[in-house]
Amino acid sequence: MTGIVIAIDGPSGSGKSTISKRVAADLGLSYLDTGAMYRAATWWCLDQGVPLEDADAVAEAVAEMPLEMVMDPAAPAVRVGRADITSAIRSTEIATAVSRVATNIPVRGELRRLQRAIIQQETGRSGRSQGRGIVAEGRDITTVVAPDAHVRILLTASEEARLARRAREVHGRADADAIAATTDQVLRRDRDDSTVSSFLTASDGVTTVDSSALTLDQTVDVVRRLIEEVRA
Ligand code: DC
Repeated sequence: MTGIVIAIDGPSGSGKSTISKRVAADLGLSYLDTGAMYRAATWWCLDQGVPLEDADAVAEAVAEMPLEMVMDPAAPAVRVGRADITSAIRSTEIATAVSRVATNIPVRGELRRLQRAIIQQETGRSGRSQGRGIVAEGRDITTVVAPDAHVRILLTASEEARLARRAREVHGRADADAIAATTDQVLRRDRDDSTVSSFLTASDGVTTVDSSALTLDQTVDVVRRLIEEVRA
């Protein structure tokens, strides 16, 4: 049998990265963070001095980007040429700018092409997982990039739960100030991003998992059960 493909999408703060990494590590699969690819594209354009409002120049620059995704779920990394930009792409500067790159249609075409090639490779023996497969996460992964994945999950959580999680992640606490400071990042970005990809409602064949009232471990269990069902 060829490797399994598990696609997980959902809005900011739904826990998709954490859950995807855990599931991939537990099952010996590769892990692809497609959001990190959009962040890398943004970092690359800024590094190259390409103005983000010049959509054509951005698309050209991204087509030339020497991107390498390291898909170990225990230590995922992103490299562009010789630079390890794993931490740099988490900066507020990138988080604020990334929607402009992620809403550039030719950029989406290019990154989707790369994502499909990576997924394809991981289902065969030559991939990093030696054919075991991959967990790929990101906005349009269940619908556009890998609509024929074996398991397709939309991970959701209430707005309150998502804001509180992001606030804890970024500020170490979830009081009113921290939540206010996080609101723009979570809600505005989702609004902007939802103009080019639909990740707020599940399409046919995609299973919704609502993690608002679940712990991390419980959510991992739900996802693993869904995987067991298709493997059985
Ligand atoms: O999940 P994240 O915050 O790292 O995503 C970064 C940005 O990229 C965010 O604006 C959503 C966008 N994105 C996308 O448009 N399509 C994907 N498959 C993944 C992320």
